Amino acid sequence: MSPMPPPRLVALSERARSGLSSLKRKMVPPNVALLDFVGDLWGFHVAFALAELAVCDAIQAAGPEPASSQRIAQELSLDADALYRTLRGAAQLGLVEEHSGQRFSLTSLGRAMCKSPEASFVDFIIFMGRYGAQNWPLLPECIRTGKTAIELSTGKQPFEWLTGEPEVAECFNRAMTAVSNVACEAIAAAHDFERYAHIADIGGGHGRLLGELLKSAPNSRGTLFDLAKVVEGAGPLLERLGVRSRVDTVGGSFFEAVPEGADLYVSKAVIHDWQDGEASQILTNIRKAMGTRPCKLMLCETVVTPPGKPHLAKLLDLEMLVHGGGRERTESEYAELLRGVGFRLDGIEGTAGPVSLVLASPV
Ligand SMILES: C[S@@+](CC[C@H](N)C(=O)[O-])C[C@H]1O[C@@H](n2cnc3c(N)ncnc32)[C@H](O)[C@@H]1O
Repeated sequence: MSPMPPPRLVALSERARSGLSSLKRKMVPPNVALLDFVGDLWGFHVAFALAELAVCDAIQAAGPEPASSQRIAQELSLDADALYRTLRGAAQLGLVEEHSGQRFSLTSLGRAMCKSPEASFVDFIIFMGRYGAQNWPLLPECIRTGKTAIELSTGKQPFEWLTGEPEVAECFNRAMTAVSNVACEAIAAAHDFERYAHIADIGGGHGRLLGELLKSAPNSRGTLFDLAKVVEGAGPLLERLGVRSRVDTVGGSFFEAVPEGADLYVSKAVIHDWQDGEASQILTNIRKAMGTRPCKLMLCETVVTPPGKPHLAKLLDLEMLVHGGGRERTESEYAELLRGVGFRLDGIEGTAGPVSLVLASPV
């Protein structure tokens, strides 16, 4: 794994990247700029197809020399011409590199599309391709009604629906671990976690983030809290991360109560799943669990930037509109939400990823 670049450097390069694409949009005819949006849709499906068919794994397994697309097609029982054309398109997206004789090698992006439990992003692409891609076309209806696509198509709230769909839920939990692969190293590098003897992760999924935090704080222990069905599946990942013996897993609902006794309560990508009423209820339960001890709260979320300042949060917010049912928030919205439930916003720290650390203390 390459070392984390400093958050400031990442922010600078992100500004440069978005400046260049905005310059390109101004220079080319509008129709050409709009075609890029359609190209992004095609590009996503190329990545999804490679993920679903485990093509990058096959190229990796073929060894260090570029692999012939014909041979990969044979191994995976695919149509050779269709696979070659897909890989040629994938080369344009930077997922693979094309060599003479219809041979391909993986780029760093392609390597992140292989199934490696601690570094791969592939499960998120699979989840979005299998399920997300069916729901995003409902965005116009979400805008008309303010309801999520899940609510519109199933009549249920997103997590209520997920509970009754074990196959989708399993795919979702793996996707969340994959998303955490992107953020958790950046989070662990951005803050000193050794100062907390006991870290609780509320809505922590299978424990990808908690595992990373405990790796950076070798004397600390952790509590992983999530729905009982979810924490039941956390053992293998905690084992692989080498932290199993330092973690208590607790199943329950954060709308009822969360475990007491931690010095730091972390929650990543949870508060953004909910509107203010439910978010306040979760935070109130965390506040109650802290009691009168000097604890800290850390919400790991993308924070919406002011108008004119691009940030992934503004698009992730729409993913929440379509799927999660919650919202991304600005700094002042977090300050207000926290103030209403007995916390003071101490500040927001950036990380080398899109996620920021929203830090708060009980008052
Ligand atoms: C978007 S996922 C984030 C998971 C994890 N924190 C991460 O970043 O990978 C939201 C998490 O909230 C959990 N969750 C939803 N409703 C819950 C409830 N009522 N009580 C506890 N956890 C819940 C889900 O099971 C899921 O793991």
